[in-house]
Order: sequence, then C-alpha cells, then structure tokens
Amino acid sequence: MKIMAIVLAAGQGKRMKSKLYKVLHPVCGKPMVSHVLNAVKQASCERAVIIVGHGADAVRTTLGDSAEYAFQAEQLGTGHAVMQAKDLLGQEDGVTVVICGDTPLVRTETIEAMIAQHTAQGAAATVLTAVFPDPSGYGRVVRGENGDVERIVEHKDCNPEEAAVREINTGTYCFDNRKLFAALEFVTNSNAQGEYYLTDVIGILKAQGERVGASVASDIAEAIGVNDRVALGEAERLMRHRINEKHQLNGVTIIDAGNTYIGADVTIGADTVLYPGTVLRGNTSIGSDCVIGPGAEITDTVIGSGTTIRHSVSENAHIGDDCNVGPFAYLRPGTKLGRHVKIGDFVEIKNAVIGEHSKVPHLSYVGDAIVGTGVNIGCGAITANYDGYNKSVTEIGDDVFIGSNANLIAPVKIGNGAYVVAGSTITHNVADNDLAIARERQVNKPGYADKLRARAKAKKERGSE
Ligand code: UD1
Ligand code: CA
Repeated sequence: MKIMAIVLAAGQGKRMKSKLYKVLHPVCGKPMVSHVLNAVKQASCERAVIIVGHGADAVRTTLGDSAEYAFQAEQLGTGHAVMQAKDLLGQEDGVTVVICGDTPLVRTETIEAMIAQHTAQGAAATVLTAVFPDPSGYGRVVRGENGDVERIVEHKDCNPEEAAVREINTGTYCFDNRKLFAALEFVTNSNAQGEYYLTDVIGILKAQGERVGASVASDIAEAIGVNDRVALGEAERLMRHRINEKHQLNGVTIIDAGNTYIGADVTIGADTVLYPGTVLRGNTSIGSDCVIGPGAEITDTVIGSGTTIRHSVSENAHIGDDCNVGPFAYLRPGTKLGRHVKIGDFVEIKNAVIGEHSKVPHLSYVGDAIVGTGVNIGCGAITANYDGYNKSVTEIGDDVFIGSNANLIAPVKIGNGAYVVAGSTITHNVADNDLAIARERQVNKPGYADKLRARAKAKKERGSE
C-alpha cells in the first residue's frame, strides 16, 4: 500500500508577530516544518507534498528537493490547502497522512501507529487526538454514543457542550486518498472564520457511512501546535528534553540537562560528558570520551574522541582525537586540528591546519596557516596574514619552535626544525634547522638606573618649590 503525506505550511502565522514565516521558526535549531517532514518521511511516506503560500520561496529553499510542492495562493483554510495537492496526488490509490507544519513534536512512531490502526480498521479517516487539560484554541473531537468519531468542531464554532470536550484534534490525520479528495468537494466555508476547514471532512465521511477512527496520542506533548512564541518556547523545552534524553540513553553524561542545548541533528559518542552551558548546533558530531564545557558554543564542528573543550567557541572546524581546547579559545571556520593538539587560552585559529602534537598554548592568532607536527608556538606569537588588501599564508614545518611574541609576516615559510627567537618579526623565509632572530640587539648601561632615579627626583623637587 502506498503511503503519501501532505504537510500544511502556507499560513503566515500572524500570532508569531514575526518577519519569519511560522513553519520556518526553529525548534532546537531546526525549522518546525523540517521536523515534520522528517517525521513523515521516516514513517515511510513515499511522496511528501508541502503546501506553501506565505514564504513559499523560503520554505522551498529550506527543504529543497526533499519534497514536492503545491502552491496555495490565498489562505482560505486547511481544507482548501489540502485541495491544492489534488493535481499531484488526486490520482493515487493509498493512504495519505495530512499533518500541520506547526506541530514539530509529532513522532514517527506515533504516525506509524496511526497508519497501522487506520489500515487494520479499514477506516476512511483516522484522526490523531490527544486529551488536553486545557483544550482552548484546538478543534474538539465529538464522539457518538458508541465512541466513534462523529465530527470535529473548531474552537470558535463550539457550543458550550462541545467546548467542554477535552479530546482535541492534533491536526494530524490519515485518509484513504481518493475518499479525502472526493469529500473535500463538499466542504464549505460557512463557519465562524469563513474558512474551508479540513476538519469538516471527518463529519462528511461519517455522514457518508464511512468508518472514522481516532488514534489517541499517549504523550500530549506531541500534539502541541505552535501558533505563538509562548507555544514555541514550550515546544523548544519539550524537544530539548527529548533530545537530551536520547543522548543520555545512548551513554552520554549530561551534568545538567536543563542547561545543555543540543541541536536536533547533533551526534555524540558514548562516555562523553557535557557540562552546563554547552550549546551544540547544526551538523556537529562529537566522538566518545570527550569532555565538553562548561561553557562551549560549538557549531557545525566535527570532534574526534577523547577531546576536551572548555569555555570556547568553535565554528565549522575539525578537531582531532585527544585534543585539549580552551579555556577561552576561538576556533573559526577552516580550523583543522590533528590528534593531540593543544589550543590554550585566548587563542584564535582561522583557516589553519595544525598538525599532530602541536601546541598553541596562550594568546596567539594563527590564521591562513599550515602548521606541521610537534610545533610549539610561544605565548603571544601571531601570524600577520592580512596587509589590509590581501590574505597570505604562513607555512610552518614540523618540530618548529616559535618563540614568544614572534610576528610571522605572511607570506612566509619556516622550515622543519627551525627556531624563531622570541620577539622576532619574521619577514623572510627560514630554512630547515636554521635559527632566526630579527630584533634590536640589547644594550645594558651600567648603573644608569640610579642616575635616572636621581634625575627624576631632582626634577620633582624643583617643581614643588
Ligand atoms: C488546526 C485545526 C484544529 C486543530 C489544530 C491543531 C483546522 C480547521 N483546524 O487549527 O482542529 O486542533 O490545527 O494544531 O484544520 N494552513 C495552510 N493554509 C491555510 C490555513 C492553514 O497551509 O489556508 C496551514 C498553516 O500554515 C498551519 C496549519 O495549516 O501550518 C494549521 O493552520 P492553523 O491556522 O495553525 O490552524 P489551527 O487554528 O491551529
Ligand atoms: Ca496551528
């Protein structure tokens, strides 16, 4: 049996009061609509059609060709929205899951259970429902005497008796595809909001003598529809908890889960420990036995195993096994650290490769550089990679010693085993195993400090007379 999905994502989301279209608001770093699309795809939906309208281009850019698109020019209601998929799906036989782009917490397993029940019961439609302590704002599920679903009534259309129902429509359904499109033809907009409601299809199918089932979600958190920033905050909190728990069950220690923020697509190996204030974003992947945090902001970074990163920021970097980063290091895009590299305090690395067992322990800037293995870069040494117009490369061979406060003026090459004396400003290449010194020779004037003090004292006394 063919399974398809329609994701409703054409609304503007006025209640968000945002320039960003509602379904593109991120939850744990990932747009709501991407969460929803992932969930339906993993529930083996072969085709997924996204209904776009407001922000159509932005939604298309975000989801790319992982889905098909149907355009709803005017937002006349959820039923009208589904109708826009008729050209694409109308001729298919099978089951169609309809889901809202603003319900990011619906799980794949829940969709699968709904589809299984739907097929087992031979239903024309099955609604995913939830029982809420406070059902305000949601459509109410009205059941008949035998417990069958009779119809769904929108909050604004409820009489007092219907308003008291606490079982709500989560906005996720599955339908017999042909019966869905046939029933949509009968939907009108004679209701409180003047919209074509998808929810009316339930009553229409029921009146046609079809079987309509309900699958009750066990976890009501899954049913949250994000219409405003309060719900967005709540969805974020619930998703964060879910993600943290997944990693904990996989063997990651999270010292304070309430203070640890892990993006939806981050991967972490077993026996890694996350300290509070850790923020992991995007396509970050972390190996096993790492210690991350306290205070780490890590974006799109690949980290090996056995590495420690404390109080540091990393973006678009590769960090090898057994490295030690921070406190207070800034790894910018293009940083590649080999194994056993130490990057210490107040060090910035940008677009640079640092070889195995090399150390940049304190107060350095290494940018646009290739650094070999076993190199020691002294405190305060920097690469001067920018002349105000062009960026140039610094190459440092293996086993090089760069003394403290050296300035390496790029483009420049330091050969293997070379030694750059502290305080040197290096403008010319240094050959293998050479020692380079580039600074004024020191002059000592015997006893001159005493003379200096005597002179200063005399001057002060003259001034105070
Ligand atoms: C809808 C349901 C309600 C349910 C709730 C669950 C209807 C009529 N009501 O209400 O029963 O309890 O979801 O969260 O279906 N959209 C379009 N085109 C439109 C209108 C909406 O694509 O013309 C999209 C929106 O972008 C959104 C989704 O459909 O992603 C739901 O629309 P929304 O306005 O949020 O519906 P609710 O009032 O929340
Ligand atoms: Ca909604």
